[in-house]
Amino acid sequence: MTHDEALEAIPKAENPLGAAVEVLQEGFEHYSWVGIYLVEGDELVLGPWRGPEATEHVRIPVGQGVCGAAAANGRTEIVDDVNADPRYLACFPSTRSEIVVPIARDGSVVGEIDIDSDRPAAFDEEDRAFLEQVAELIAPHC
Ligand code: SME
Repeated sequence: MTHDEALEAIPKAENPLGAAVEVLQEGFEHYSWVGIYLVEGDELVLGPWRGPEATEHVRIPVGQGVCGAAAANGRTEIVDDVNADPRYLACFPSTRSEIVVPIARDGSVVGEIDIDSDRPAAFDEEDRAFLEQVAELIAPHC
């Protein structure tokens, strides 16, 4: 699937958050596990996700883990080697790299897209730009 095809399909769906995790996880081979966390108070709560396994991290305090860092500072986090990042909260033994893209509405972080890859350093600036566009598209639905 191309980035443009995904950006077109997601907002047209009846449930854009569910569609986003499905399209991203199925459409892009290096996106091994895709989840959307939603901010509830000072926690991130796991919403829709797609991947081979469930994660035990269904609630993450803002400020903890790579997810919590992205929510706290409102910036995309790219981790090329999760085993070298002391902030990393492990979910799956197969994960080698991760990207977390905040979803903002009216200037505050309301959620984030979290993607784990089984490939080392799987995420580049193109992934960042693409996923930041996806985050903008789904922000009104968070
Ligand atoms: N690795 C994340 C936790 C969520 S799982 O990847 C699904 C983190 O460090 O915050």
